[in-house]
Amino acid sequence: MTHSQTVLLLTGSLRRPSHSCGLCHSVADALGNFGMAVTIFDQREVTLPLHDSVWHKTPEQNPDTGVRKLVQLAEQADAFVLASPIYHNGPSGVLKNALDHLAIKHFAYKPVGLISHGGNRTSQAVDQMRIWVRGLLGHAITTQICTQNGDFEAGGTDDPRISNRKRTIPRTCSLNGE
Ligand SMILES: Cc1cc2nc3c(=O)[nH]c(=O)nc-3n(C[C@H](O)[C@H](O)[C@H](O)COP(=O)(O)O)c2cc1C
Repeated sequence: MTHSQTVLLLTGSLRRPSHSCGLCHSVADALGNFGMAVTIFDQREVTLPLHDSVWHKTPEQNPDTGVRKLVQLAEQADAFVLASPIYHNGPSGVLKNALDHLAIKHFAYKPVGLISHGGNRTSQAVDQMRIWVRGLLGHAITTQICTQNGDFEAGGTDDPRISNRKRTIPRTCSLNGE
């Protein structure tokens, strides 16, 4: 019997529409095309409280239902994707707060993909996220995706989607598996 890999994607923007959330959806679509079971934990849909370290050792007992849902999804995940906008030359506090609700036991030895939007495709956010993942004992994979506004379809009230897949991710990765 084959086991479908389960990937949990964590968003780091509360904005609507959001480019980094749109990027997250494009990556989720691509992973789905590879047969993976994907779940996006969209922090606009589930408002997490600021992390209280009293729950650091027992996150599954956090009184907040959103945190417990996040913890349950993280326990079940075989791999993660972390998505963030560029905020002040790094990732968002929204994403970091979600990670602070989790622990090494959720990430240990699991692959983690890193994606970000903003700053003219700067790697500032994914570089910092790579250090976070090391602290959680995860394996941040070498492929990373950094986008700018021109990489997306314009306008609308929905999260924008990637418009030029090959230009966005030259050499390292293609969203449609080519
Ligand atoms: C608090 C804050 C800090 C930001 N800092 C930077 C920055 O340092 N460099 C940059 O290029 N853009 C910066 N931006 C712009 C965001 O990267 C940009 O709005 C991006 O589209 C947000 O992604 P989102 O659409 O997923 O929310 C910042 C935006 C905010 C709200």
